[in-house]
Amino acid sequence: MKIAVLKERRPFEKRVAATPDTVKKYIADGFDVSVEAQAGEQAGYPDSAYQAAGAFVAPDAQAAMQAAQIVLKVQRPMLASEGNDEFSSIKPGTVLIGMLNPYAAPEVLDLYAGKQLTAMSMELMPRITRAQSMDVLSSQSNLVGYKAVLDAADQFGRAFPMMMTAAGTIAPARVFVMGAGVAGLQAIATARRLGAIVSATDVRAAAKEQVQSLGASFVMVENEESKQAETAGGYAKEMSEDYKRQQAALVAETIKKQDIVITTALIPGRAAPKLITEEMLASMKPGSVVVDLAVEQGGNCAMSEAGKVVAYKGVRIVGYRNVPSRIATDASALYARNIYNFVALLMAENGASLSIDWDDEIVRAVTLSHDGELVHNQFQKAG
Ligand code: NAI
Repeated sequence: MKIAVLKERRPFEKRVAATPDTVKKYIADGFDVSVEAQAGEQAGYPDSAYQAAGAFVAPDAQAAMQAAQIVLKVQRPMLASEGNDEFSSIKPGTVLIGMLNPYAAPEVLDLYAGKQLTAMSMELMPRITRAQSMDVLSSQSNLVGYKAVLDAADQFGRAFPMMMTAAGTIAPARVFVMGAGVAGLQAIATARRLGAIVSATDVRAAAKEQVQSLGASFVMVENEESKQAETAGGYAKEMSEDYKRQQAALVAETIKKQDIVITTALIPGRAAPKLITEEMLASMKPGSVVVDLAVEQGGNCAMSEAGKVVAYKGVRIVGYRNVPSRIATDASALYARNIYNFVALLMAENGASLSIDWDDEIVRAVTLSHDGELVHNQFQKAG
């Protein structure tokens, strides 16, 4: 059985879905692997490294997919209408594995079903212990949290740690992290390592202990609603208007004392909650920096713009696109491992072919289409 690894063509995407390390593993399991030329180039994995790992390096995507039953991607294949047709050369019946982003483009799901693809979307991985090694959102968010702090430091005209020098003392930076999920917790840990004074907020009460265990203080509107703010899957719910008002008042008080604010708040399948208003930005000290990690989901901060660093009343608002791709070598290494662990779950006992257990809760959670049908319970209506 053959696995094809394609080069990503979406703008701002430098990652790749398999590394020479995971190619070696597939080959040891008995698969053939072909990698499109230059697929790993921007992530620091040259064609020669794939060749040395035993892959065939194909000159283009079509050649890579020749006789392949499985196609590995980072992002959803582009359509001709998006300016680059990656989709039409995927053969009917292929198992397509990647971050297919079904919430953003539900209309594409019919195309997957129409082509009889087994389309598996890695962001839908359930947050259960058995799936931790396949959890792409966690592996990528962790690196994003780290990189956000470095991006903030880069835009900040001051230092993070307290420094006592012969020329005078530098005060430590104050960092406030909004949303203490995977990215937020790593941002807290990274800012602490750089010597900042860190505080954080979330709507899930469970985050308090995690924030405090990293040495940061927790700021939150605690009431009956916040006790129920977490779904069974561990995600945040959309909060009531009343809660949002109380939260905004607390955030307004907190934010004016901060130098750096990193926002990571997301609600799956919805626009990101707006947490920082123009008024709050205006209350911040000149030279402060906001990094809005939710910018591509609509943004947590007023004035943030995807792909830009915006200056507003002396505050810099950083809205980089695709932050995991800004740390592409490690992001690819972890993503490729997640994918390998998932493919291993689908493998027959003696390797080299697939034997998919359609009753497995992980398989059910990630499969969008199979055998010409939309099979995912959340997306069936999209057809
Ligand atoms: P996410 O990326 O969906 O959201 C980031 C954070 O923003 C979350 O902590 C969320 O509660 C928070 N948030 C949402 N709305 C907010 C608001 N209005 N104000 C302030 N904060 C707000 O979350 P992520 O990082 O994917 O984590 C979600 C949950 O999954 C967490 O409980 C995490 O610990 C859990 N998890 C469990 C895993 C497992 O058991 N295998 C693996 C990874 C995460």
